[in-house]
Amino acid sequence: MDHFAYRDGQLYCEEIAAGELADQVGTPAYVYSERTILDHYSRLAEAFAELDPVICYSIKSCGNVHICKLLAEQGSGFDVVSGGELFRALQAGADPAKITFAGVGKTDREINEAIDAGIGLFNVESEAELANITRIARERQTQVRAALRINPDVDPKTHKYTTTGKRETKFGVDLERARRAFEDFGRDKYLRLIGVHLHIGSPVNSVEPYVEAITKALALIDELGKAGFELELIDIGGGFGASYWEDQAPLAADYAKAIVPLLRGKGLRVVVEPGRSIIGNAGILLTRVQYLKSSGDKQFVIVDAAMNDLIRPSLYQAFHFIWPVCPAGGLVAASREEDLRLEGTGLVDVVGPICETGDFLGLGRHLPAVQRGDVLAVFTAGAYGFAMASQYNARPRPPEVLVCGADYRIIRRRETYGDLIAAER
Ligand code: LLP
Repeated sequence: MDHFAYRDGQLYCEEIAAGELADQVGTPAYVYSERTILDHYSRLAEAFAELDPVICYSIKSCGNVHICKLLAEQGSGFDVVSGGELFRALQAGADPAKITFAGVGKTDREINEAIDAGIGLFNVESEAELANITRIARERQTQVRAALRINPDVDPKTHKYTTTGKRETKFGVDLERARRAFEDFGRDKYLRLIGVHLHIGSPVNSVEPYVEAITKALALIDELGKAGFELELIDIGGGFGASYWEDQAPLAADYAKAIVPLLRGKGLRVVVEPGRSIIGNAGILLTRVQYLKSSGDKQFVIVDAAMNDLIRPSLYQAFHFIWPVCPAGGLVAASREEDLRLEGTGLVDVVGPICETGDFLGLGRHLPAVQRGDVLAVFTAGAYGFAMASQYNARPRPPEVLVCGADYRIIRRRETYGDLIAAER
């Protein structure tokens, strides 16, 4: 799953004790394991190797330029959804030909920036956007490659805020309109509509929705072929799960086992856009206990990380396993479970200092006894953790630390109070 493990009663990230890291870099802090990132990337590459896919790491999941650089060095491309993400990818040394650009609201500026960079593929989400990119490409007398994002109306069985392939969501074009879009835009010499893009949701913790969506996409590609549109590419998007508790998500090999046979021998270039499955389990958030407080029969553990640092619990009621890095009495959790109740633990809410009741990291958790100053680890925080952090309540954002074996690097420093007002001229 990852390289965060308890040895002799304390949590290690690779070869470094998490408690020592917390003392050295302070809390809250995001800590990533380089070995885990590389393992997850290579497992995915191996699982899908038969298709020789272009892997485009979804930069929105965790866009630190050092992490992107690490992945670019492995040959990864990047899935971006804004000019800022394109900038990050280019700063990391990405090969522009392996950059895909999705998103329902690309501005002219962003489209021009992407053309300037020479990106490999625009994943276009509407007829209006097709018309606009065609116009810009024609004005610039340049050719761009695009895929039409289709909305296959498939339920990925995930949180409704991250469901993207159902008809009622804002993403892509439904199958009926997709056929017409190819008729209307599929023969342009400036915008070359060469493929179909899908991204049905995140996380998708089963293979069936992929099978359903890809089967629909292939039927469309087939039909378009008969109508004279020879497509070269299918981008199946991201959404592969990470394990927030033990063995929660299918492995890369499980996804591949269901998906590869569908795409084998089709003569299509395959693109995948994984984010969470690479970086999710590769990151933890370290936080220190500030105060213990009881109210009625409730026990609160008040920590120094908050919803501004990790918003997923507040926004999606997402579960992140939490455990002390040096648990009292050596009470190590043998595995990360959603409702773990070991003897000697007590029921607590782990909450942050922000002035909202929705500011929590974990509710109703059975934790070993903790005291002021103890460090807790919030697991599987690598994806959509720092990436969604804000400065709400004027809280400087935490640092990001990358561990490699027994070494670590601060790959983003802790923000200062000065950073809070730096852009306010
Ligand atoms: N491709 C596209 C077009 C996407 O929109 C996304 C994610 C991905 C790829 C990568 O999905 P992944 O492999 O990471 O699941 N903030 C939410 C997740 C939002 C995902 C948005 N799109 C969360 O914290 O769960």
